[in-house]
Amino acid sequence: MSFNIAIDGPAGAGKSTIAKLAAKELSFIYVDTGAMYRTIALALLRAHTDIEDAEALAAALAQIEVGISYEDGVQQVYLNGENVSGLIRTEEVSDMTSRSSAKPQVRAKLTDLQRDLARRENVLMDGRDIGTMILPQAQLKIFLTASVRTRAERRYRELAGQGEVCTLEEIEKDIEERDYRDSHRETAPLRQAEDAVLIDSSDLTVDEVVGRIVELAKARMDSAWK
Ligand code: DC
Repeated sequence: MSFNIAIDGPAGAGKSTIAKLAAKELSFIYVDTGAMYRTIALALLRAHTDIEDAEALAAALAQIEVGISYEDGVQQVYLNGENVSGLIRTEEVSDMTSRSSAKPQVRAKLTDLQRDLARRENVLMDGRDIGTMILPQAQLKIFLTASVRTRAERRYRELAGQGEVCTLEEIEKDIEERDYRDSHRETAPLRQAEDAVLIDSSDLTVDEVVGRIVELAKARMDSAWK
């Protein structure tokens, strides 16, 4: 049986950085589900799809195939065979992802892919609804959060590093809006699973958070496989 770790939390809490390192330390596969939603959003932007039109959305989704592979342990996402990993982190794609991922049709398209991976492999999967909807049976669930200010500062540094022009205030406002949308949407809202361990990373270093998750995972694995 595979061992599954679910990490959920809001944008900018450090999920992907932390999940990547923890997965490496545990020799698990890191599955970034946000990248899958971003890939669909990129396709919808390219096709100029009106996502509020259910028929148009269904037609567009029928043309989209999301694939993932691992190169040197790093997840790559493919849109109809094209590696789009480098194209999905812009603010435009982030905004479309937040809106399109609220659509049940979009979520349904990715659910099986995510569950399938978790059934076959020891995965550390991060997203918004992994512990609550996708892998409710995960042996370890983490809800990773941080204050809005901390998350905005992290995102600001990331975007500035990529040469994108923006202000900290704009990012903070974007994060607040996205948080609201992600946690108030009807389909798979962001919320902490009852049995998830809450970690607030605002005042913790990356190593401290990774260490805590690895320690929890090892303890659970010991008891699960005894
Ligand atoms: O984790 P991220 O920033 O790459 O996520 C991008 C968007 O996708 C974000 O608005 C939330 C959404 N998302 C989701 O709805 N469900 C997931 N499992 C992962 C991401």
